[in-house]
Amino acid sequence: MRIGIITGASSGLGRAYAKHIDKRMELDELWLIARRETRLTALADTLDHDCRILALDLTDRESFDLLERTLEVEKPVVSVLVSAAGFGKFGEAQDLTAKETEDMIALNCHAAAEVTRLCLPYLHRGSRVLEIASCAAFQPLPGISLYAATKAFLLRYTQALRHELQGRGILVTAVCPYWLKTEFMAVARDTANPGAVRHTPLAMRPEAAAAWSLTMNGLGAGVVTCGPIPFVMRLGGKILPAGIPMRIWDNIRKL
Ligand SMILES: NC(=O)c1ccc[n+]([C@@H]2O[C@H](COP(=O)([O-])OP(=O)(O)OC[C@H]3O[C@@H](n4cnc5c(N)ncnc54)[C@H](OP(=O)(O)O)[C@@H]3O)[C@@H](O)[C@H]2O)c1
Repeated sequence: MRIGIITGASSGLGRAYAKHIDKRMELDELWLIARRETRLTALADTLDHDCRILALDLTDRESFDLLERTLEVEKPVVSVLVSAAGFGKFGEAQDLTAKETEDMIALNCHAAAEVTRLCLPYLHRGSRVLEIASCAAFQPLPGISLYAATKAFLLRYTQALRHELQGRGILVTAVCPYWLKTEFMAVARDTANPGAVRHTPLAMRPEAAAAWSLTMNGLGAGVVTCGPIPFVMRLGGKILPAGIPMRIWDNIRKL
């Protein structure tokens, strides 16, 4: 059985990937993962593929046991894995609660790495892995510092994973979009200091980011920046001392 696994499929970018993969790939099942089961069921009803709904909280360690057991029973070929579950919180480090801090690291870092680890035995030549990082990964970002650091983790993890899996013919990509028009902002602003990042201009449609990154993953790209702004941020992160992009960002976020 050939399957696609998409985490964060109940909303935004994850849902956009589910729709694109449904149209573009021939699979036996799509496994849709997120906490909101009704959202996943509603999405499944719109897709042509058979879907398996896995309503899992990926900050809860028992969720990984369930996924592991399901994989062991079905022994599928994971043709595509998209790790899109993630969230950010606006605010400086002192503004975040212990739970926000713990959950953000658990979801953005641990869950992405653990879901990937569980899938590794089921990836075959030609399988595709897309880890959803962010252009926040390219430099430290005051006012959204923990989120940016979790995405830097995911970017580095994915780059090394790509190297490790190259010999097996598996296509691994770190996807680094700029702001997207999703539920991310509402979640990010639900914090003690939402004004730490006042504006998020020029946000992209998630469908465009999903389509572009799937195409680039198919072409073997290791890191995909979805648009010119994240491309410039990637370049800046490589050539400038971290203090310069941080100072520029510090002014932009307070506008
Ligand atoms: N939006 C942006 O500006 C932007 C930019 C760059 C990168 N990204 C990244 O893109 C990815 C998708 O974000 P989005 O913009 O599509 O935001 P979104 O619309 O808020 O979607 C986030 C997804 O993560 C799932 N999720 C959240 N907490 C979870 C948990 N504990 N367990 C399982 N699933 C959980 C949500 O589902 P449930 O709530 O149903 O669990 C939802 O499906 C994230 O990794 C984000 O960091 C976003």
